[in-house]
Amino acid sequence: MNDQTATRTGAVMAAIRARIAGRALGAGDRLPSIRRFAATMGVSPATVVEAYDRLAAEGLIRARRGSGFYVAATAQVPLALAQTGPLLERAVDPFWVSRQSLDADPSMLMPGCGWLPADWMPHEALRRAMRTLARADDHILSDYGATRGSPALRRLLLWRLAEDGIEASPEQIMLTASGTQAVDLICRFLLSPGDTVLVDDPCYFNFRALLRAHQVELASVPYTPSGPDVAAFEATVAERRPRLYITNCALHNPTGATLSPQTAHRLLNIAAANKLTIVEDDIFADFEPEPSPRLSALDGLERVIRIGSFSKTLSASVRCGYIAARRDWIDGLIDLQVATAFGGPSPVAAEMIAGMLAGGFYRKHMEELRRRLARARRDVAGRLQTLGIEPWLMPRGGFYLWCRLPGGFDAADLARAVLADKVVLAPGNVFSVSQSAPDFLRFNVAQSGDPHIMAALARAMKR
Ligand SMILES: Cc1ncc(COP(=O)(O)O)c(C=O)c1O
Repeated sequence: MNDQTATRTGAVMAAIRARIAGRALGAGDRLPSIRRFAATMGVSPATVVEAYDRLAAEGLIRARRGSGFYVAATAQVPLALAQTGPLLERAVDPFWVSRQSLDADPSMLMPGCGWLPADWMPHEALRRAMRTLARADDHILSDYGATRGSPALRRLLLWRLAEDGIEASPEQIMLTASGTQAVDLICRFLLSPGDTVLVDDPCYFNFRALLRAHQVELASVPYTPSGPDVAAFEATVAERRPRLYITNCALHNPTGATLSPQTAHRLLNIAAANKLTIVEDDIFADFEPEPSPRLSALDGLERVIRIGSFSKTLSASVRCGYIAARRDWIDGLIDLQVATAFGGPSPVAAEMIAGMLAGGFYRKHMEELRRRLARARRDVAGRLQTLGIEPWLMPRGGFYLWCRLPGGFDAADLARAVLADKVVLAPGNVFSVSQSAPDFLRFNVAQSGDPHIMAALARAMKR
């Protein structure tokens, strides 16, 4: 087989795999006929025969004599390992952006993803921290960690919290495997199925996915440039009686907005009057040029739980998060962490993060990231505006621009269209409980520099 034939055969195989992965073809379904699929793919029937034979050899499909090819009953197992292409047929739901981005091959461009490009991350410092750790005590390299996690990292975190005006004692902090695990543990600890949880509209899409897994009801409140709409917040709390409110105060995901002091004060009063607990997910805090008001600082960690993580600033691979909360809650949260994960972050990860926070490196690294992001925000906003795509707000920091499409465009349709051009977008409604953001897209400015992205968008908007 020559190279060209091999590429065509590979494309047919990938298309069939994508249909099975996206559940457009299920176990036992008949594959398109050779002739029809050859026409769909623009290849010869012989190429489709070769592709189907190869998929049959892999066990993904079976030939039935005289009647064509069928998806094998056990197709899911080898497929999960072989699947590489974009999930073209999947519904555009809260998992869509995560799955497209996490599973993307290196040739994909990902303006919709939620992290910095690998070459923005501090690899030299990470390698240095790894070398230091290679000489660490044997226990760190081979044992389970203590239940609260690395004392060195907890000490550094307490110090950093104090700088943000949050006074916490050593009994009020625990490490977690990630920010996501922190939210999950809090949900396990405080919620029962059927409870109601309040989130912002729009909010980080994985809050929706995680809360669905906890079988709770969702209520939402519109987000404004200075925080949640307070009147709507008060009315929704009175009507729906949520147990928890989960939010980001600084550089809110996806809008990039920051809570104003007045709104913070009023939210805390409403929370106190209604016995509402607030989870302040502060994962983007270090991207702020100046610290903004923290609910956790104003409240003193009474009814506010503060969580954070280093996935966005240092590494999403050396993953580590934390919870700061009431002393009497930390103990229950640790029990849950033991029950469900037998511990928090890997001690190796926690010690590496501690090593990178300990000197002057982190401050300089974040200053550089903030400078770079400010430039990227301006550049990308300008280029989007030439396409008629307008930022809802120019954030003070961070990497998101929450943007409105010009009249009539549906962001999910656009996202599906540009996926074929190897571009992953983040369509507005994945962030919206009320499905009121069909014409919004979230752009990660650090991932939006490649001119191919704007060209693909412009093409899709002309169609
Ligand atoms: C607001 C918010 N919280 C939490 C996370 C996940 O953080 P982690 O990697 O620590 O689980 C993200 C990631 O995008 C996020 O945007």
